[in-house]
Amino acid sequence: MSTPHISAPDDAFAETCLLPGDPLRAKWIAETFLDDAVQVTAVRNVLGFTGSYKGKPVSVMGTGMGVPSISIYATELIDFYGVKKLIRVGSCGSLQPHLGLKDVVVGLGACTNSGVNRARFEGWDFAAIADYGLVRAVVDSAEAQGITVHVGNLMTSDLFYGPTNKTLEETMAPIQRMGVLGVEMEAAGLYGLAIERGAAALAVCSVSDDLTTGEILSSDERETSLSDMITVVLESVI
Ligand code: HPA
Repeated sequence: MSTPHISAPDDAFAETCLLPGDPLRAKWIAETFLDDAVQVTAVRNVLGFTGSYKGKPVSVMGTGMGVPSISIYATELIDFYGVKKLIRVGSCGSLQPHLGLKDVVVGLGACTNSGVNRARFEGWDFAAIADYGLVRAVVDSAEAQGITVHVGNLMTSDLFYGPTNKTLEETMAPIQRMGVLGVEMEAAGLYGLAIERGAAALAVCSVSDDLTTGEILSSDERETSLSDMITVVLESVI
């Protein structure tokens, strides 16, 4: 079957699919962590792979950046390819002083300035929350591996570069004040569409930039911190 943005056989995807933003990250995850991984789609170079982790079938597919892009891929994966558990594995900027680079944030909920969930919810404010079973499994997996995770709200922003009439501090102030842990660009869209379609979703993000200090991870450091996070997520799905 082909959908507008995925070209793969009907049964090409596993029920569980990890979703990094970067398609080359999807390739790296498939090659590094999965056994017998095969590439199943490459429309627009957005790569998807299916393999197994400790005997359990798992897929991994890039989503691109932002709510519109992840919404397209996640919707097609759920509606046409039978994916039931979607776990975004991404990065975020940290907003709270107790968080630092490489820390892992589990997005229990996702605030947003995107209008997508209002559009789905007839103008009301929808609480975009993760699937409880996935949250619990990831938290248990992290605990078993001795890796600390921070569980709370993410902020899904439509803008990476904020408005020019405000400083970064001004833009982030209300988000910090409301205790949001990290800012990224996809979770709230993923949560709303998954709930509407009866699928389970979660976003897990490692801190790539600390917005309270201006520190940023190097690309090598990004890879190692991602590695711990991917292991926590994969151990949670088996
Ligand atoms: N803003 C938005 N998305 C992000 C950031 C950020 O600072 N870091 C990683 N993803």
